[in-house]
Amino acid sequence: MKIAMIASEAAPFVKTGGLGDVMQALPGELAKLKGNEVCLFLPYYKRIKQNPEIVVEQVGSFSMELSWRESYVGIFRLKSRRKKLQVYFIDNDYYFGARGTVYGDFDDGERFAYFSKAVMAALYHLDFKPDILHCHDWQAAMGIVYCRALYQQWCPYTKTVFTIHNVEYQGWADNHFFSNTLGLPEEYRSYMTFDGAINMMKGAIEVADIVTTVSRTYAQELCYPYYAHRLDGILRNKWLWGITNGIDTGVYDPATDAALPVNYSAAQMAGKWENKLALRQELGLRTDVDTPILAMVTRLAGHKGIDLLCHIANRLLEKDVQLVIVGTGEKQYEFILSALAHQHPGKVAVKLAFDPKLASRVYAGSDIYLMPSKSEPCGLSQLIAMRYGTVPVVASTGGLKDTVPPYNPETREGRGFTFQSYNADDFMGAIERAVDLFYTDRDQWNALAKRDMQCDFSWKVPASEYMQMYQELHGIKK
Ligand code: GLC
Repeated sequence: MKIAMIASEAAPFVKTGGLGDVMQALPGELAKLKGNEVCLFLPYYKRIKQNPEIVVEQVGSFSMELSWRESYVGIFRLKSRRKKLQVYFIDNDYYFGARGTVYGDFDDGERFAYFSKAVMAALYHLDFKPDILHCHDWQAAMGIVYCRALYQQWCPYTKTVFTIHNVEYQGWADNHFFSNTLGLPEEYRSYMTFDGAINMMKGAIEVADIVTTVSRTYAQELCYPYYAHRLDGILRNKWLWGITNGIDTGVYDPATDAALPVNYSAAQMAGKWENKLALRQELGLRTDVDTPILAMVTRLAGHKGIDLLCHIANRLLEKDVQLVIVGTGEKQYEFILSALAHQHPGKVAVKLAFDPKLASRVYAGSDIYLMPSKSEPCGLSQLIAMRYGTVPVVASTGGLKDTVPPYNPETREGRGFTFQSYNADDFMGAIERAVDLFYTDRDQWNALAKRDMQCDFSWKVPASEYMQMYQELHGIKK
């Protein structure tokens, strides 16, 4: 199949969160399957343009109308030897190439509408008629709408897939945006309109052949107002398919990860304890104790459950544990957590940084990984933690529920410790169960950590589920 993917980020070119990881792995995994030809489109951001390690060649340029404006579109292609996977960058200095930002500019709506329209024009220019056009999150949502509105005759057989990674950001704009910027035929106005304004995610949900999200449980949760940020009514009428993400097991591998002082594997767990010692030294934690290290690597945002952690912090620190937090985000949490580190030297370490290498050392050197998210479409950190033999304590929501079944010490089934309702006491209870097992039965603890390491979190299974969905869309039955 010919598959075109559109997204606003993909590692290693540009990454601000989990979407970047998914877009690094999924297109490559699909391209490995026989008969597939995949291309991925990204904006040519300044940070990509200026990166000397990213070598590209120009394969086209033209001018395109975005409503009343004429805009330049350049198509650059990554020079690579993989024929089945091509990465293209959409070049325009005004929108991307001359700005330091990825997201957060006053005209983000216009920037990403331009990008999505330019990708459709680029596909036409390259004469790449996709069997599947797969767009991710609101920034690529307009790809689906433009495909139907402007390219129906050129690619009548293309099926469109829209994947929701984050329903919180929907691409809202005022009413004038429809005619002033999008320049779509009038019959598309009703698809794009929601509560008297323009909502690009809603437009894609309405127009796409299928809508998916990144775990099974989250697909169900999105039908409820608590999770859907007002889109529940729209989503209830759609067939919502949930495919749980994997991780790039080549990138996240404690046996080869170059950021670690010592590499290790499930068969050679001893190296993990050396990482623990090194982490304590690096972060100034006491080294003369046998306590578990509890860790979080996260954006410091309310919905990640930082408020729950702040609420129980004093009670938690009465216990014999050490706590490591790495991340940046809302100032109030940065302030509270820094104060905590100050009050508990040797016991709490807080690094207000986005530092992937340090993150690897934390995943490797810790015993327990905390992820008390209020909602979590999929979550990748808990998968990385398990891959590094660090047992997760998670809120039982979205992808966390699907990937971390609760551990039962009697039957020894399950992967981690979970709590049901978003409540600080319940979170504390789950941590206590984990810490108790750590102290009372170290053999059982180590066996659990080892089993978590051996789980298959690769992209093989999810990629084959995407393939099955693509085939069903084309009426191909296996
Ligand atoms: C978003 C979600 C996260 C998910 C990621 C990749 O960042 O918040 O749960 O894992 O997208 O799909």
